[in-house]
Amino acid sequence: MVITGGSSGIGLAAAAALARGGDEVVLLGRNPERLARAVDVVREAGGRTPAAYRADFAVLGEVRDVGVRLAEEYGRIHVLVNNAGQLTSVRRPTVDGFDPTMQTNHLAGFLLTHLLLEPLRAAATEGTPARVVTTGSAAEVWGTLDVARPGRRQLSRWLAYGASKQANLLFTIEAARRWAPYGIVPTCFFPGLIRSGFGRRSPVFSLAGTLPLVFRSAEEGAETLVWLAKDPAGLVPGGYFAWQRPFGATARSTDARRAQALWDSSLAAVGLVESGQPGR
Ligand SMILES: NC(=O)c1ccc[n+]([C@@H]2O[C@H](COP(=O)([O-])OP(=O)(O)OC[C@H]3O[C@@H](n4cnc5c(N)ncnc54)[C@H](OP(=O)(O)O)[C@@H]3O)[C@@H](O)[C@H]2O)c1
Repeated sequence: MVITGGSSGIGLAAAAALARGGDEVVLLGRNPERLARAVDVVREAGGRTPAAYRADFAVLGEVRDVGVRLAEEYGRIHVLVNNAGQLTSVRRPTVDGFDPTMQTNHLAGFLLTHLLLEPLRAAATEGTPARVVTTGSAAEVWGTLDVARPGRRQLSRWLAYGASKQANLLFTIEAARRWAPYGIVPTCFFPGLIRSGFGRRSPVFSLAGTLPLVFRSAEEGAETLVWLAKDPAGLVPGGYFAWQRPFGATARSTDARRAQALWDSSLAAVGLVESGQPGR
């Protein structure tokens, strides 16, 4: 199981839980120290050292490199968890010219999933589909996503975040439509409000430690992720969940035409042709 954002918070808690249950997990993270600590946590939980890869999703070249390496090293990937995400300033575009939140939270995962399509297809069998689980958010409700230009500059970091979480859902819906014949089941989930590294500089999220009844632990946030990665009941193509139950989303995040338009513009943004091969 490949888990992005595996160096901290929900992704790390999920990786530890899955390793404890006997699954082989592969961690992706950005910060080398956090990634090294995460390796120790997962080793302690599961008894074996997980492979770990560093890549900054704000640099598409690094996503391409890690995707190509993973595809070479793992012939079969049963579960890909697109969980890496951040809330960050909208002031400066990435080196690739996109809003940094949209790139990290959607475009990078979109590219990585395409690069891992062959190992996912290879892992899928008649009774056991491969799974692509994406960490979304109820923040999709205020997203203002231009599906024709997902990486365009946003007015504020929270608007950018909401738009990126709309993109997570629309990606899941379109991926389910396109990849059903390959035996790949994409799902998305909202983990709830979670105490983690997320939103460290946000006044709202800095309250996380003082409101334990509102903000839950990373382990609790990971429960639906683990369920979607493992449980037969989580095999709902294009499904959106919270607390291991179906969860509602706005029409803007579930509209099939918007999903298709976002897919096409995202392919162009990351320089892919539909086969999943790098186009530049
Ligand atoms: N916390 C919440 O209340 C909440 C609610 C709804 C949804 N979510 C979603 O949950 C997911 C996980 O967040 P979290 O709460 O667990 O926060 P977190 O503790 O900050 O973890 C975020 C993870 O994403 C990685 N990441 C962030 N920016 C990256 C980049 N540019 N390149 C590569 N990796 C990057 C981080 O890597 P490094 O640590 O190595 O930098 C870290 O492993 C996110 O998608 C977030 O949007 C969180």
